[in-house]
Parts: sequence; C-alpha cells; structure tokens
Amino acid sequence: MIDASDVLPVTTAGFRVESRTPPDRLDKLSREILRLKKELNAVLLVHNYQLPEIQDLGDYVGDSLGLARQAAETDADVIVFCGVHFMAETAKILSPDKTVLLPDKDAGCSLEESCPPEKLRKLQETNPNFYTIAYVNCSAEVKALSDVICTSGNAKKIVEAAPSDRDLLFVPDENLGSWVTDQTGRPMTYWQGNCYVHVEWTHESITRIRREFPGAPLVAHPECTKAVRILADEVCSTEKMVNYCREVESDAIIIATEVGMLHRLQKECPEKKFIPAPTDKCACNECHFMKMNTLEKLYNCMINRSPELILPPELIERARMPIERMLEISAR
Ligand code: 13P
Ligand code: SF4
Repeated sequence: MIDASDVLPVTTAGFRVESRTPPDRLDKLSREILRLKKELNAVLLVHNYQLPEIQDLGDYVGDSLGLARQAAETDADVIVFCGVHFMAETAKILSPDKTVLLPDKDAGCSLEESCPPEKLRKLQETNPNFYTIAYVNCSAEVKALSDVICTSGNAKKIVEAAPSDRDLLFVPDENLGSWVTDQTGRPMTYWQGNCYVHVEWTHESITRIRREFPGAPLVAHPECTKAVRILADEVCSTEKMVNYCREVESDAIIIATEVGMLHRLQKECPEKKFIPAPTDKCACNECHFMKMNTLEKLYNCMINRSPELILPPELIERARMPIERMLEISAR
C-alpha cells in the first residue's frame, strides 16, 4: 500500500513567488504603468494576493480593511484597484466621485458567488429580528441588505458591537463566522458559503507540514476550516500576518493563506523563511480570481481607462451606510 506521504508534495524551504510577466516585458510595462499613474493622478491599491510584479508597483499593498480605508481617504482622481471585483466595488462606494479602474472586471470570489441577494432577502424575511453582518467578500447588493460590514481584520470588534437583543445573521463565510463565535461567544446563524481556496487546507495536510518543520509557527487565515484553525499559532487577516511575522521570534513560519501573501511577507521580513502550507493536492494554493490580474491587463486598463467600475448611485447610497458603520466601529 502506498502511504499518503509518498505521493503528497513536500515543501522546499526558500520558496519564492514567481513573476508571471515575460522578462522582456516586465521593465517596459512597469515603467509605463508608473508614467500613467502620474498622468492620471491615480493611486494604485493592491491586495496582498496579487502577483509580485503588481505588488511591487503598488502605492499601498494590504488587506481588505486597509484597502477600504485607503480608498475612502485618497485625494487621487483615479483609483486603480488590483484585487477582486467586490474590493473595487467597495472602493467605488466609499469614493463615488472617483474613477475606479480594475484590470479584469471578471475577477470574482467564491464567497460573493455563494450569496445571491434574492436568497439573502428571503432568509431575512424569515426573522425580522435578524441583524445582518456581511463579510466584505460579497456584492454591493448584499452589502445594501446588511446592517454592518466586517473584514477578517475587524470581524471580532464588529460582532462585539452588535446589539445584544438581535439575532445575528453572518454572511457569506461560515468559517469566518464560526471563528468569530469562538472569539466572542456570540451565537450566530451562518450563511453556508466558503472560500474555495482556504477550505483546501486540511487537518492532515497541515499536520504533515508541521511535522516537517516542527519549530515553525503556523499562521492561518480565518477563512480556513476549524480543523485547520485549531492547529494554528495565530489566526488573522493578511495584514495582521505581517505584524505577527515581524514580531515572532522564529526565523521560519508556515503560512496557510493564498500564496501571493508570501511575496509581501518576504519583502517585509527578508531575514525570515516563509513556508507555504500544502493542501492534499499541491505544495501551495492560489486564488484563480486574484491571479486574473496581470501586469499587461493593468497597463491596458490604465491606457484605455477601462474597464471602469460603475454602480447605480442609489445602490452606492444604500451600500455605503453599513460600510461606514464598519469603519466607524473599527476606528474606536
Ligand atoms: P484579507 O482582508 O485578510 O486580506 O482577506 C481577503 C480575502 O479575500 C481572503 O481570502
Ligand atoms: Fe474570494 Fe477566496 Fe479568492 Fe479571497 S481567496 S478572493 S475569499 S475566492
């Protein structure tokens, strides 16, 4: 009989996230993008999961919460958003007068897909006492149906601030929801959605890598299942991972989140070694939505000023209130 460890991938130390832009295009495109940024008076906001060559050009690279704050505060005329569609929508809702460009308008998210607004509305109608907390990974329509938004960086604080006489409905990530209940003791009804990337890590795949690197702490994103989270030394948003890794004494750290994160971590902590957590199928894991953005598409969206994210003004109006409530609670 073949033992699983004979066929499963073994992670090699010194992992590097590779650029996907052909070397002969990299310099030229990068220079052109920086030139266009000046010409458009644009700010380049980049999520931690983006390709290395895109992260390297960002004015700000961070998690959903940091990106939302940057979008709300920028005085640029144009926001070029390198992340997924719901993140660019959030930027537009917070800065409706700005032009928001995105390299690929089809870059979605499995969590967003899992929660169509009509289905949410039907569930809400079953209990008028529901207080809906929506993880930011959802559409603008779902945000407009919610009382407050949260990100993985502030979910605990947002749930703690929810009215105690209401029944909490948490959408669309059941794993983030159950993690927050573990933190706060607040029971909630969870929408049955998940991130197709983060549920790929298993108790077994994580146990294997921990055995291989017994001295290395494990950091996991709260979108991972509970079976994985219980093995982690730290569970947090991508931005908080940077702080944890800077401060932890160990010089090798196992990371259970989308592999783009390792580029950011390696830049922030060049003296440390980051080990991607393997799944049962692969030595690391990536989000195909996040990777739809390429340097070429970024350049094209800036030169063509398209695709541009447009939302109906009345939807912006309805979706803004729960996001602003989140930012206000988060700043307390
Ligand atoms: P963060 O807000 O922690 O960066 O997470 C966003 C995300 O999409 C995780 O899959
Ligand atoms: Fe959505 Fe998961 Fe991709 Fe994050 S990693 S954007 S939650 S599909």
